Amino acid sequence: MKNTIMRNAGRVMVFFIICLIGVGRIAFAQGFISLQGENDGEKVLLKWQADNRSSVYQIQKSLSKEGNFTVMATLSGQKGEIVIYDYDVKKGNSYYYKVALVEKGRVSSESSVVEVKLTLKAPDNIKIKSIKDTKVKLTWKKTKDATGYEIYRSKTPDHKFKKIGTSEKSSYTDDTVKKGKVYYYRVIAIDHKREELTSTYGETVTVCIVPGTPKVNGDYSKKKIKITWKKVSGAQMYTIYRKKSNGKFKKIGETNKLFFLDKDVKKGKYYEYQVIAFYKKEDQIIRSDASASCKVFASDVDPNKKMVALTFDDGPGKYTQEIVDCLKANNARATFFVLGCNVDSYKSSMQAADKIGCEIASHTYNHRNLVRLSETEIVEEVEKTDRKIEKAIGKMPNLVRTPGGSVNDTVKEVIGKPIILWSIDTLDWKTRNRDKTVKAVMDHVKDGDIVLMHDIHEPSKEAALILIPRLQREGYQLVTVSELAKYRNHTLKKGEVYHSLRH
Ligand code: NI
Repeated sequence: MKNTIMRNAGRVMVFFIICLIGVGRIAFAQGFISLQGENDGEKVLLKWQADNRSSVYQIQKSLSKEGNFTVMATLSGQKGEIVIYDYDVKKGNSYYYKVALVEKGRVSSESSVVEVKLTLKAPDNIKIKSIKDTKVKLTWKKTKDATGYEIYRSKTPDHKFKKIGTSEKSSYTDDTVKKGKVYYYRVIAIDHKREELTSTYGETVTVCIVPGTPKVNGDYSKKKIKITWKKVSGAQMYTIYRKKSNGKFKKIGETNKLFFLDKDVKKGKYYEYQVIAFYKKEDQIIRSDASASCKVFASDVDPNKKMVALTFDDGPGKYTQEIVDCLKANNARATFFVLGCNVDSYKSSMQAADKIGCEIASHTYNHRNLVRLSETEIVEEVEKTDRKIEKAIGKMPNLVRTPGGSVNDTVKEVIGKPIILWSIDTLDWKTRNRDKTVKAVMDHVKDGDIVLMHDIHEPSKEAALILIPRLQREGYQLVTVSELAKYRNHTLKKGEVYHSLRH
């Protein structure tokens, strides 16, 4: 405790000196000598501004303020700022200086007396070495003769510093910080062998902890893609990036709002976005991690025109790619209810379908009748498929079609996703006939229908190649099940069964 008081007294003295210098400046305002003295831990630095004449200056030094000043040096012929050093000093002692102007061999005027206490050099070059999540590491240049350091922190810009720790090395890690907050740090050097020897504060460092990472959603509507996210702690602004064709993300905007509108989009294309939150203080910018990519398909669906969802079950198989190619050529989309066990063998077809905006949904892993399975078995059938699909296309399926369309309350509850059945059953698996399959659709199709076909049979594939352009000629837009729900204003609910999605 005693040591602390002594140290603080030392600090007060230094402030007192600065005040003295200030007073000196006012008293000799008429261009007379304004002397400044500084301690740099090894020597005393004295400086003042020479007048324009080539005057003679006498530098006087004393061991007490009112004591005997003796001439330490005499200078002449200097112009501009004069700087001299006094090496004849000892740590812990105070020294008093003044400068006299000599004219015609006589002292004509003097500066006020300046006191300099030789203490340790204040730690400088303080840097934030690393900020990781909620840790701040400070480093600084070693102070000669210091045996340790005290670290002070303020949470407010008015610098109400509190001691938060000590360090024997020239670094300190503060792990008591919170995300998104601003902190100010200062460091004092101490010589423990001579407790009264401490430096003044080193420079102040401002810091903010990394803002949280935004979670981003996107939606296409009215020729624009709207990217939205929730506010993250510590963020002042957000930067929005869009993926370019070369795979790199390019900055497309910056905002303090929680959304961004991308108007530079073309229909029928995928866009991928990332958002980075950042905190800015003076010239210091601290960025969050980039958000997960948010993929948005700029759908070309006109809600005012007819639409239908073609769905293909039990694949993917050897005919899937041809259907995908036909959809692509006609700027159309469909939904593939795939079996988890088939995904690996036709991964590229799945990726091609996904790339053109088709929906990959789940038809379970092994096509077992879920009604006859235990809850655990149902979960396994669904989850295994989810993992396969995610591995293939990087996203989880949102929809499930139960094998054979069989459903009971347990199945609904355990699946936990919307269950999509159909309004037009082509019976293609039974007839295995191209024309009958086409006819089954064309005879009954209405806006909002969900058509059931199987992409593992060749006649079904042949039928699809005819149906895709023909339905379009009839004015139908070929959309995914999720798009159909969206444009027909159905919010698909977990565990509910849907047959069609009409107005
Ligand atoms: Ni099936």
